[in-house]
This record gives sequence, C-alpha cells and structure tokens, in this order.
Amino acid sequence: MRATVSSTTSSETPCLLCLHGHGRGRTAATAYAVAACLVAVTFLALAARDPRTQAFWFLYSSSSSLSSFASLQPSGGGGEYLLVTSSSYSDGGRRNRTGKEVLEEVQSDGEDLLLSLTDSIPATDAPEPQPTPAALAPAPATESSDEVIQATPQVPRRRDVKLERLELGLAKARSAIMEATRNKDNRPPLADKDYVPMGPIYRNAYAFHKSYLEMEKLFKVYVYEEGEPPVFHDGPCRSIYSTEGRFIYSMEMESRLRTRDPDLAHAFFLPFSIVKMVMMIYEPNSHDMGPLKRTVSDYISVLSAKYPYWNRSLGADHFMLSCHDWGPYVSRANGHLFGNSIRVLCNANTSEGFNPSKDVSLPEINLRSDVVDRQVGGPSASRRPILAFFAGGNHGPVRPALLAHWKDAGDPDVRVSEYLPRGVSYTGMMRRSRFCLCPGGYEVASPRLAEAIYLECVPVVVDDGEYALPFADVLNWDAFAVRLRVADIPRLKEVLSAVSPRQYIRMQRRVRAVRRHFMVHGGAPRRYDAFHMILHSVWLRRLNVRIAAEG
Ligand SMILES: *[C@@H]1O[C@H](CO)[C@@H](O)[C@H](O)[C@H]1NC(C)=O
Ligand SMILES: *[C@@H]1O[C@H](CO)[C@@H](O)[C@H](O)[C@H]1NC(C)=O
Ligand SMILES: *[C@@H]1O[C@H](CO)[C@@H](O)[C@H](O)[C@H]1NC(C)=O
Repeated sequence: MRATVSSTTSSETPCLLCLHGHGRGRTAATAYAVAACLVAVTFLALAARDPRTQAFWFLYSSSSSLSSFASLQPSGGGGEYLLVTSSSYSDGGRRNRTGKEVLEEVQSDGEDLLLSLTDSIPATDAPEPQPTPAALAPAPATESSDEVIQATPQVPRRRDVKLERLELGLAKARSAIMEATRNKDNRPPLADKDYVPMGPIYRNAYAFHKSYLEMEKLFKVYVYEEGEPPVFHDGPCRSIYSTEGRFIYSMEMESRLRTRDPDLAHAFFLPFSIVKMVMMIYEPNSHDMGPLKRTVSDYISVLSAKYPYWNRSLGADHFMLSCHDWGPYVSRANGHLFGNSIRVLCNANTSEGFNPSKDVSLPEINLRSDVVDRQVGGPSASRRPILAFFAGGNHGPVRPALLAHWKDAGDPDVRVSEYLPRGVSYTGMMRRSRFCLCPGGYEVASPRLAEAIYLECVPVVVDDGEYALPFADVLNWDAFAVRLRVADIPRLKEVLSAVSPRQYIRMQRRVRAVRRHFMVHGGAPRRYDAFHMILHSVWLRRLNVRIAAEG
C-alpha cells in the first residue's frame, strides 16, 4: 500500500468544482415499500444446456480451463506468444461467505455446472433464525436444479413480484446473450449507429455487442442518496485516482442507466469514495484503517436497516468502486461487501481476494485535465526508435527487479530509469517507444497501461499473472498487449525483439482500436467509453447472479 497520499492530494480537484451540475435531484424523495420479507438468495452460475458451450464467455466457472474458452476465442486472432489471462482465474465463480454460511457446488443433470450458494440470515448481525420445515421450500420449478434454502421470514411472506419481474428481464437478457455466443461467425453484425465491435481485440465481439445493447435496453442502477459529500457522492476527478471520482460523478449524472426508483433497480451503487475518506477521515501516518472501515460498515448498516435491498441479496446486487490502493482492505469492513458484492477496484490482485467472476477490475487513469482526447495518438512503428521504455519510482514488488537489471545496462533499446533527465518528456518517450513497460507500483494497477494505449505504444504487463486486467471478460488482451513474468525480466529484450515488424504493426493497430474503451470524455460519458465499460462489467456480474424472491 502507498505509505502516503499527500503527494497526490495537492493536484486533486474535486468533481464538485471541475464539473457542474453535481448532485442533481439527489433530494428526490422516494417512497419505499417496507416489505421486510426475508428471502433466500440463490447465486446461480450460468450454464448453458449444451455442454459444448457450458463456459459462458464471461463466466470464469470453477471448471474453466483454457480449452473451455476455445470456442469463444476470436478465430485466427490472438497474440502469438502472449499469456491468456483467463487461465489464472480457475477458482472463479465462488463467493466467499463468512460465519456459518454454506458454499455448495451443485452438479445437476450430469452436465450443467451450477454454483449454488444458499444462505440464511447472517449470524454476525442477526440472531440465529430457527429454520422450520416450512421454510425449506423447493426451488421454483423453472430452476429445478437450484438448491434454495430459505430463511425464516420475520414478517408474513409476500411474493416480491417486483423482484421477480426484474429477474425475468435479466433471464431474458441472459439467454439472448448466451444465444449470441453461439454461431457468431454466421451472423450479420448488429446494427449500431455509433460503433460495431469487431475483430480480435474481443473475446467474442458479437456477444459483447449483444450484451452491450441488452444492457442499454434493460439495466438500471440505483444510487443510494444517503451520505454527504465529499466522502459520499463525490471523488477525485484528477490524479491517478480519477476513475473513482469520474465514475461516481458520471453515475450521479447518468440518466439512461440510472433509476431513481430502487424497486426498478437491478443493481445498487454504494457511492462512497475511499480516496476522499483517506483525505478526510484517515489520521495521517496512523496506519489505522479502522475509521475508514467503520464509515463503510456504518453506511451499510444504515442502508440495510432503512431499505430491504441489502438484506434481500446479502449485498450480491450491490456494488462499490474504488481506485485507491486501500479499496480491497476497506471493503473487508463488511463480510458480505467483501464476499458477495461486486467490488470495482483498481487494486485487482487475485492473490488478495480479488475474484474476477464477481469483482471488476477498474482501470487506473491519471487524468491531469478534464479530457484525454487531446493527449491521444502517436506515431507509427517506423518512427519509434526505442524498443522498450519505463520510468518510475523504485517501489512495490516488481520494479526493483526491473530497475536492477536494466537501469544501468546502458542498452539504447531498453530505456529503464527512475527519473527522466530534465527536459525529457515522459509522454514523448512513450511516443518514441514501441513497447511501454507497465509494472504495477505498490499494488498491481498502473496508470501506464491506459497511457500506453492512448499513445499507441504496445503495453507490456509485468507481473506473475495475479493482476486481473480491466475488461478482460470482453477484451482479448493477448491481441494487443504483452504479458511478461517477473522472472523473465532479464529476457525482456529478447522477448520483445522477437516480435516481427508485421506482428507489431498488427498489435499497434489493435491498441488504437481498443482505445475507445479506455477513453474518459469531458462532459457526459459516451457509448463504449471507460464509464460504460465499467458499467458493462457490473452488468455481466449482475447477470451471473439470480436473487430468489420469496415464493
Ligand atoms: C473467506 O472467508 C474466510 C472467513 O470466513 C477467510 O478466512 C478467508 O480468508 C476468506 N477468503 C478470501 C479469499 O478472502
Ligand atoms: C436487515 O437485517 C438487519 C440485521 O440482520 C436488521 O437489523 C434490519 O432491520 C434488516 N433490514 C430490514 C429492512 O428488515
Ligand atoms: C499481489 O498480492 C500478493 C499477495 O499479497 C503479493 O505478494 C504480490 O506482490 C501482489 N502483486 C503485485 C504485483 O503487487
């Protein structure tokens, strides 16, 4: 974790100041149904009926392997020797639970792998319910393979008709997307006035497009209105943490995918900013995250007492977002937040509990102004004399090895240093290099990844496979990035030199093509940009869960 945040706070501009119109309509009063009808929750990992397509293209099922993705890989595409990120996520599909909760894997019909998580009232914050035979109702007929164990309701049971309607809509979208994953090559592209995803940068361009359109058609997010800025409803819109503030702000302003009626919401956003908490609540140098965690757990306590939604799903249809290194630690404030909710994090280290089938990897983007539009683009390969470039502080687990090996190597092809000499421009170096090295810092994420993409420099991710790359459920990183193991740092020049000019030109073209998904626009977000890709990642994970209503 970063020892201090003071270096970034000076350049931090609150979104309240740099963008206007903040908080519009947050005062809207809403009447809430108080049906405190406790229901069981079934986490349903999607599985197709056809075993050949059982690996849903964005679902890292517990049995996933490289071969299960084979049918979903773009034909003829892909990087020649690049790692496949999905291979490291073999334990996906599970949700960690605390206390006495049960994790069960249900294999049904001998072919469908359903991951069914059943639950009762959390023992940690409620008296142990006394299960009665009546409460152990059979699963709904349509989902006969799910095992549903229901908690004893505290009030007379009432069918949650609204929830059932929402789940029905999701089920339809789910099957439309599943359908789209099949025979993709035999279909004409879907109509789209702005953009039609195509080519090897996608795992399955057609299915992604279908899923994106379904999201636009159906998905509704509710943003809780409780909490005061700056810790809530606000965040940094500049600095390396900008994706946190920009998302919170854009979500507040969103008109199409946001609903003000929580009964119509498929997902619930917890609009707190951990960066702001570190600035406002954290005692500098205390190394005590307690106050931050209390802020989060108190917030959830308030919401779960006031509304039925948190208890109903035990947080599984709720999401939080943070670009701060401490995001994952603070999310441990509440066991269900950590284990069930969708955590959208820059610090997406699979060795530290980040679960790519449920959590979302948030790109780290170092915004210095409101727009990146003016900073993008770069020369073609022939005008990039440097093979590989890196400049940055010597900290974290990866950089010492990189700097130790290459900093003083005196190799004109590999420019690795801590500081650039006066007058040498950082972005200028990136534009003159064919490959830009993107090791993490104190944690896995690095703003270099997005910078390289903006400047059309092919990014090189340096890690041991634990960094869950942003949008990897949709993007085929192998097609436009290189992944290098830490142990291979000494071979870096050899590996990168082996890329032929033809291969390089192809990869660079794909970097340019993928840029749209990392763009942050001034003013309102645009379709397929970073904001919408983040929401799409949330949408996919929400689709992987079915919240069972009391029946
Ligand atoms: C899952 O929860 C248990 C406690 O219930 C905890 O010890 C364990 O570390 C958690 N696993 C992950 C991956 O967080
Ligand atoms: C949700 O559960 C908590 C404890 O488990 C309880 O205190 C709270 O009243 C419940 N909320 C609602 C709306 O019933
Ligand atoms: C990811 O987490 C593990 C476990 O804490 C740590 O050893 C590793 O260095 C982290 N990786 C990076 C690139 O920060």
